[in-house]
Amino acid sequence: MPARMIEDGVYYVGSLDWDRQMFDELIPLPQGTSYNSYLIPGRDKTALIDTVDPEKTHELLKNLQELEVKIDYIVSNHAEQDHSGSIPVILDEYPEAVVLTNPKCKELLKNFLFIPEDKFKAIGDGEKISLGDKTLEFIFTPWVHWPDTMVTYLEQNKILFSCDFFGSHMATSQLYAHEIDEVYPAAKRYYAELMMPFRPSIKNNLAKINNLDINTIAPSHGPLYSPGDKIINLYKDWISDETLNHVVIPYVSMHGSTRVMVDHLVESLIKRGLVVKPFNLGQMDPGEFLMSLVDASTLVIASPTVLTGPHPLTFSNTYLINLLRPKLKYVAIMGSFGWGSRMEELLKDQLSNLKVEYLNSISIKGLPNQEDLEKIDALADEILQRHESS
Ligand code: FEO
Repeated sequence: MPARMIEDGVYYVGSLDWDRQMFDELIPLPQGTSYNSYLIPGRDKTALIDTVDPEKTHELLKNLQELEVKIDYIVSNHAEQDHSGSIPVILDEYPEAVVLTNPKCKELLKNFLFIPEDKFKAIGDGEKISLGDKTLEFIFTPWVHWPDTMVTYLEQNKILFSCDFFGSHMATSQLYAHEIDEVYPAAKRYYAELMMPFRPSIKNNLAKINNLDINTIAPSHGPLYSPGDKIINLYKDWISDETLNHVVIPYVSMHGSTRVMVDHLVESLIKRGLVVKPFNLGQMDPGEFLMSLVDASTLVIASPTVLTGPHPLTFSNTYLINLLRPKLKYVAIMGSFGWGSRMEELLKDQLSNLKVEYLNSISIKGLPNQEDLEKIDALADEILQRHESS
């Protein structure tokens, strides 16, 4: 992506990654991603806000060279390498530059990138620095999504450079969210995959930026938001304790018995007017699955038994759910076994981070018979009753 002025005296100098398909070897990127970096040439000093993934360093360098500026400050809002990985090369090319960051980020950058101590200027929470005619304010926003994360506010332009906070994994030639319909689903997917475990921290950090007069939010992934109110309000929704009466059913079936149970439960819930989202764990898009957990009330885990435990696909997904801590209220476990099962006990142990009420579990030997199907109807009744009373 070429350098572009986003508004008076502020340039986009980042990079689009149309081809990247996975992040952290875990998160699929159906729309690619971007590594947004911004340049603010002030009257006296010039600041670069974050850099790009090391794979794209050449694009950042090209943009900077075209603008023919010197760089005095490299602001590092977050040490993860997709934003910091080009810093060593930029320091080589612009030896007069220093890295402005918080003490936590500084330590991580020293560990990850071997940046020497004398290349840093540590800043404090709320500290401001002048570029001459422009002022940057640094606000520490820990745990969105690492302990080092902070945001940078450009007072004169009312731009909040938020790094991962409010980001979306999306490569697009358009700079602004209001030009593209798919941004907000992409932002929700991003929230589900990265931010969901940190709801209390997000709440604190939203309060911290609440008194800033923000015209534009410029994240380091995906399009910019101008105005920024819509994405802030969506975050407020996602972190609230309110849930939707949706039932998410991640399932695996080896020989069809668990599938019969799932199909029956789906039908039974639909007949009761509930929104149901089944996900076949062997074929699903993990991002869609995690998005469904952002505001669902109920999770029904359906799995066959493998050597007395849950199917490994079930186990790996419940491990992830436990890490991401969605605001679920109710969980039920059901499945089929051949000769013995400890599935319920093992899954409940694995979901120890969730503060949920467990509904009646259903464990069936072999293919479900009529009596078993009636137990599934009773579970649907139980879910309906809980949803109606909450
Ligand atoms: Fe986009 Fe936490 O890095």
